[in-house]
Amino acid sequence: FGRKAIIMQSTPSTQGEVQQLADEGVSEGAVVLAEEQTNGRGRYGRRWYSPPGKGIWMSILLRPQQSLRNTPQLTLLTGLAVCRAIRSFTGVDAGIKWPNDVLVNGRKICGILMESALEDHELRYCIAGIGVDVNFDKQDYPEELSPIATSLQIETGKTVDRTLLAAAILTELEQLYDMYQKQGFNVIAALWEALSVSLHRDIKVSNAHGIVEGMALGIDSSGALIVQKKDGERITVFSGEISLTD
Ligand code: BTN
Repeated sequence: FGRKAIIMQSTPSTQGEVQQLADEGVSEGAVVLAEEQTNGRGRYGRRWYSPPGKGIWMSILLRPQQSLRNTPQLTLLTGLAVCRAIRSFTGVDAGIKWPNDVLVNGRKICGILMESALEDHELRYCIAGIGVDVNFDKQDYPEELSPIATSLQIETGKTVDRTLLAAAILTELEQLYDMYQKQGFNVIAALWEALSVSLHRDIKVSNAHGIVEGMALGIDSSGALIVQKKDGERITVFSGEISLTD
């Protein structure tokens, strides 16, 4: 991954740049990085704060052989790749909150946005968007983010080389993706569970169906979260957001 890489000074969103490349037929593994995004996008239509020089704002083109129903697995895989790269490159004790936020000491350090393009109900490609807060100071955060976000600089007390970290993320992602295509999701699921901060914890899930409280038990072979409710019933959660309540 990253053998074709475009580095931009400023763009509305690296997701849009990769979409354009994908539609032009560029092959898998192409990457766009930007110093700054003026309209960075988060999950659920939120904005992603992407000021110049402070983070890794990048999108990667994937053309998986697997079918559309496997895209939840790819989102977990991408979070796992970032988490492993952060741990090995900086030594910071990062963990994953289902489905794919990377947290350090309970604060979010990385978000992932997986977007898919379809044609006749078939998957044409996926774009994995990765935003990592690298060299933010505490005072760089707007008020609403400062209690919930953190950066590698805050956690390590040092500035971190964004280029080398981005390269480490791409290497990790390529290796896990290769493993996934050859061996399937189970090995990825085991690695993911080992770095999860949300398993065997009391959680609250909110999604389009409402709010459920219970304990996260694990992920199934599709990447969905298995939750045991307070009354003992086990349910499978395919999408949504969780918060830790214990
Ligand atoms: C989230 O946690 O809500 C997902 C955030 C994803 C942010 C990244 S930054 C690079 C790529 N381009 C975007 O506009 N968004 C993703």
